[in-house]
Amino acid sequence: MDRPQAEARIRELRQQIQHHDFRYYVENRPEITDAQYDALVRELRELEAAYPDLVTADSPTQRVGGVVAEGFAAVEHRTPMLSLGNATSVEDLREFEARLGRALPGERFEYVAEPKVDGLGVALLYERGVLTRGATRGDGRVGEDVTHNLRTIRSLPLRLRGPLAELAVLEVRGEVFMRKEVFQRLNRELEEAGEAPFANPRNAAAGSVRQKDSGITAKRPLDIILYQVSHAEPNPFTTHWDALQRFREAGLSVNARVRHCPTLDDAITYCQALEAERERLEYEADGVVLKVNALQQQHLLGSTTHHPRWAIAYKFRARQAQTRIKRILVNVGRTGALTPAAELEPVEIAGATISRATLHNADEVTRLDVREGDLVLVERAGDVIPHVIEVVPEPEHAVRAPFVMPERCPVCGSQAHRPEGEVVRRCANSACPAQVKERLLHFGSRRSMDIEHLGEAVVNQLVEKGLVKNLADLYHLTVPTLAELDRLAEKSATNLYNAIRRSKDRGLPRLLFGLGIRHVGEHVAEILAAHTGSMERLLRASAEELAEIHGVGPRIAAGVAHFFAQEENVRVVERLKAAGVKMEEAVAPGPKPLAGKTFVLTGTFSSMSRDSARDLITRLGGRVTAAVSKKTDYVVAGKEAGSKLEDARRLGVTTLDEAAFLVLVGKA
Ligand code: IVH
Repeated sequence: MDRPQAEARIRELRQQIQHHDFRYYVENRPEITDAQYDALVRELRELEAAYPDLVTADSPTQRVGGVVAEGFAAVEHRTPMLSLGNATSVEDLREFEARLGRALPGERFEYVAEPKVDGLGVALLYERGVLTRGATRGDGRVGEDVTHNLRTIRSLPLRLRGPLAELAVLEVRGEVFMRKEVFQRLNRELEEAGEAPFANPRNAAAGSVRQKDSGITAKRPLDIILYQVSHAEPNPFTTHWDALQRFREAGLSVNARVRHCPTLDDAITYCQALEAERERLEYEADGVVLKVNALQQQHLLGSTTHHPRWAIAYKFRARQAQTRIKRILVNVGRTGALTPAAELEPVEIAGATISRATLHNADEVTRLDVREGDLVLVERAGDVIPHVIEVVPEPEHAVRAPFVMPERCPVCGSQAHRPEGEVVRRCANSACPAQVKERLLHFGSRRSMDIEHLGEAVVNQLVEKGLVKNLADLYHLTVPTLAELDRLAEKSATNLYNAIRRSKDRGLPRLLFGLGIRHVGEHVAEILAAHTGSMERLLRASAEELAEIHGVGPRIAAGVAHFFAQEENVRVVERLKAAGVKMEEAVAPGPKPLAGKTFVLTGTFSSMSRDSARDLITRLGGRVTAAVSKKTDYVVAGKEAGSKLEDARRLGVTTLDEAAFLVLVGKA
């Protein structure tokens, strides 16, 4: 190939790769396989290696980091990157509109509402369609040049497409962020490597963008969404909504949840709906940004020194609050794990009064250096147990006593060991009342044996009065005995008695889960039950045999073997059997063609709801999980499939579109 031919081919390859990046990273709709894509990149790399002077900054080969910055160059923003005024109520939003009306009397206002993604604000400069610079917000006036690191973000185009690519200058602003799932994975990896985890996705994104070594940034998948034109020469836009649509055409990714709101009431409805959806978003968002749609009006309204007058941030209710630690207690779980927890001065967070927060384990207590009496920041997000985020610095902290994990079980006083390589200390006494209580609660829980009325108050008494020492004792309780418990009238005692009796027929999988064997969750219990068919056969199986079962492996097999090596456990199982607890697999009617298969659903389906799809899979013996892992068998992608599809591709998991899924489940 001579030089002109190489030049032409390079141009062609770059265009193709750019197109496929967009399909893959922005639209989630790839057209070619990963291998085909890699072949294009490889060919381009080889040509560029042969003609190094043809390498340009916007070449897709220049994404992968490797450049180590000395420090970041300062970038003075052409127009300052302002912050936003806040609204915390609907009244505040109405007042915002009233202010607009006073500034521009007689005018009507339309709005655009956007999720306020919690990440790192950046400004991207495109010159004639080529990304020439990316900068952080910094103090708003001067930011840092982080071009090398931003280039590693795959959803960020290095070159624009269509009409916007023609503009001499286009500066757009947006947010770099890390999806919750990626954040959790990153933290797990950091912890495994013995490094400090990030407190939240925003810090993780900021830490990654400001990495000196862009090779590290490249390994931490970040995303970007663009939400503002800050400068355009010439300026082709008339409304903000129109600008966002043109962004999309140009290959700039725009949040899929942006809405055009013709009236303030529409915007208010949007704010409330997004807040209700908050925990289900794939990224952290702390509010909604409401912007006046007409750019002419924006221009006339102008800005104060701090914020634009044409936009406002509606803040969701805070999920964090400060309070004081009254005491650090140590709980004992059903496996004997000692878990430190903070007893707090009650504080209201997002509508609930919080008086307890988990401290996870002793290492976490050391990392946070929390001490009794400390003022702390507590977070309550979604369904997760409230946790302590950090200690608020106070001079008194230094004179408070550091927390020391007890060496003995705080409940039964037995020695508590910390097995080598583990983060938790465990009470070794399996008859420890705290362990027995937790085991009973787990056994009776809805997903195990589902014993209604077997709550904490009842369990505490049963154990404290010595009526129940192990799971089998439950089935020997009588109505008169139960009726003697505090706050349990004859009728409730009968109800509980009947609930215990009914639980005998739950079947092997739920029984196995209920026994609380280490590493045996619901799914593993199902696999074990399906393979052995009965408790008897499971008891006879060796660890080696169990480890052979697909989905079990040596760690789980060892957990099972260890459990049944304890005579006490075997005795309990025998007594459960004698009491009439069913020890065979419960076989639900109908064929189970999807047994052992794991599915992840993403996007929307036209022929059924996501819930119906989930039910269908479960009925056919399959399982539906939330996150894609290497163990996922199929990702079923409907319309507007999200990041899970991307995860599937990366992990090499089979993906099915709706039609293929219907064929698989026999509905086509
Ligand atoms: S507009 C002058 N739109 O929130 C206009 N900002 O407090 C300001 N943010 O620093 C930017 N999502 O980093 C805008 N859809 C969105 C946003 C957004 C998140 C961040 C941004 C800014 C901060 C303002």
